[in-house]
Amino acid sequence: MANVLVVGTQWGDEGKGKVVDLLTPAFDIVARYQGGHNAGHTVYVGGRKVVLHLIPAGILRPGTLCVIGNGLVVSPEAFLKEKADLAARGVRIDETNLALSRRAHLIMPYHPLLEKIDEDRRGEGKIGTTCRGIGPAYEDKAARRGVRAGDLLDLDVLRAKIRENVGLHNEFLKFHGVVPLDPEAVFKEFAGYAAEMAPFIKDTSLLLAREIKAGKAVLFEGAQGVLLDLDHGTYPYVTSSSASAGGASTGLGVGPREIHFVLGVVKAYTTRVGSGPFPTELRDDLGKRIAARGDEFGATTGRPRRCGWFDAVAVAYACRVNGIDGLALTKPDVLEELDEIRICTGYRYKGDLLPGFPAEPWILEKAVPEYRTLAGWRNSVHRARDFAALPASFKDYVRTIEDLVEAKVALISTGVEREDTILIDGMWPAGLRLDRVKAGIGR
Ligand code: IMP
Repeated sequence: MANVLVVGTQWGDEGKGKVVDLLTPAFDIVARYQGGHNAGHTVYVGGRKVVLHLIPAGILRPGTLCVIGNGLVVSPEAFLKEKADLAARGVRIDETNLALSRRAHLIMPYHPLLEKIDEDRRGEGKIGTTCRGIGPAYEDKAARRGVRAGDLLDLDVLRAKIRENVGLHNEFLKFHGVVPLDPEAVFKEFAGYAAEMAPFIKDTSLLLAREIKAGKAVLFEGAQGVLLDLDHGTYPYVTSSSASAGGASTGLGVGPREIHFVLGVVKAYTTRVGSGPFPTELRDDLGKRIAARGDEFGATTGRPRRCGWFDAVAVAYACRVNGIDGLALTKPDVLEELDEIRICTGYRYKGDLLPGFPAEPWILEKAVPEYRTLAGWRNSVHRARDFAALPASFKDYVRTIEDLVEAKVALISTGVEREDTILIDGMWPAGLRLDRVKAGIGR
């Protein structure tokens, strides 16, 4: 059996949702390892759009066990709402196909309030977060006072932890003129969630270990992308979790040797939501046209995404940090109205060519991209199914990216539906049930 990790190689929104949904038939389990309901994974099935935030995209394929790992921060309200929304669409969810780690931390009502105070304090330099309380929930985790999913299983423990945390955070809220929370009201709200969530709360590290031992195959699902990773992203304009491949091991309690293949999802151009440096950003009309054609609006917040050219410096960095074995190239069809397409091949800072992707945001802000210009592939890629039949200009684009980022393309997505997919033979690990992926494409 081959276990595959799917990770974003840019600033998120690369199309991981479609890729995970597509590959799921080859796996018994889909396990997500970080983030929270800040993510928005969009999947189209039979012309219907489904957006997932917290629950792994594998849930859309019956018979797949989906795991929400300890590395996530979970809003019980968002969890129950997403579960109910999916059920209303006919997706069966119960404790046999969805498990939530006892060690996952909970997003509490004070977290979005604390986040708003912090974003306001930053003024011009704000992160531009999704305002879901993600950062403050991870702060409480690191401060060793967080409320975890397992705490919902003992109401005395839950009440004591809520009292401690509400008491502490109320001081800060009051200082900033925000109405403090009533600990008992918060407890009652969460005691209600506890009753509904209890059947799903498990030791998911143990569950995964047993399943892997029994020969089951796991797809590890990343959210966001490496450039939003807390350590390796464009700090401080990042999310607060380990979005890169390394996060899967700690975020699920699974040894790194269980990951056999790392698939990096990469969009044919670059997008970013929120603030922060973005060297290849197109601030002109072309950027707006790409956004409109690519439907580049945040799946979670609806905010317009900033658009720019493909940045091979950033993606080469992402490939190195993640140990990418293959790439899934998405949305090349969005660019097919263009006669010329540009790829950033390097950055100049104060006139000198930088050796790679810089760590400091103030350098990245002033980095001047160098571009290679390639011929476009007018109206020939959308919904294509056969790589051999694609125009030479598109093949040249793919080969150029592969050379610059030092990773090979294994999958090309040519449209939103499952069928709009090209799988490149010979690029996949031995033991991966690719026949099941092919059979599942039309279903
Ligand atoms: P947070 O994750 O809400 O704390 O937001 C931190 C940064 O990550 C902001 O720039 C967000 O726009 C960005 N971000 C968080 N989740 C996603 C995502 O799923 N896609 C794209 N950007 C995201």
